[in-house]
Amino acid sequence: MPILAVNVDHIATLRQARLGQEPEPVTAAHMAELAGASAIIVHLREDRRHIQDRDVALLRQLIKTRLHLEMAATKEMHRLALGIKPDMVCLVPEKRQELTTEGGLNCIGREKELADYLAPLHEEGIGSSLFIDPDAAQIKAASDAGAHYIEIHTGAYADAPTPADRQRELDKVLEGIRIGRELGLKVNLGHGLNYENVWAFSKVSGVSEFSIGHSIVSRAVLTGMTEAVSRMADIVRTFPD
Ligand code: PXP
Repeated sequence: MPILAVNVDHIATLRQARLGQEPEPVTAAHMAELAGASAIIVHLREDRRHIQDRDVALLRQLIKTRLHLEMAATKEMHRLALGIKPDMVCLVPEKRQELTTEGGLNCIGREKELADYLAPLHEEGIGSSLFIDPDAAQIKAASDAGAHYIEIHTGAYADAPTPADRQRELDKVLEGIRIGRELGLKVNLGHGLNYENVWAFSKVSGVSEFSIGHSIVSRAVLTGMTEAVSRMADIVRTFPD
């Protein structure tokens, strides 16, 4: 059975909008665990736009499931990961200007470099995943690099403008799952998955983990709106005329 891994980056995005203390991603992570998440994911970006170093350190100490750290394959992140020891790292490409991770990591021709990057992490018992597009050559290269998992980028499927495009992108993801499994890799899916488009995978076997963040945080904000507003309205109503 696949597991749900919840990405809490955008709880931190909301907090960083005021550079304050709320909402607290660690609390969101605990609530996600209580609600059935089997892993918590954070992306510690080079520019620290949402998740901060202290979030990762606190999550490592406090969460009860698994901590997956998304990161660029830089020296800084390598050192941090070896110190924090997440259960798994997921290597992603990172550009400063992008709104979110735009494409998969290029693994072709970088198999040795990636293998050398991952080996010390593996020695510390940290699992590894490479976030890649559903492309046969990339999947083969990820396998040659010795990654335990690939995470297939589902963004092109999620953002496809027409039903025909969506079907074509879905077919690529399904083929990617097949190739990955055939090569002995574990296969995760993530990016842009929401309460509608995730159903396409309801009868697909071979997926270990669904990595979902933005749609869950978006829904949480709106489903919590009624309680949040009525609580404040109740408070204000008790004030004198
Ligand atoms: N997987 C990876 C590698 C990502 O970079 C992201 C976005 O941070 C996600 C999954 C989650 O995507 P979304 O927030 O669109 O659910």
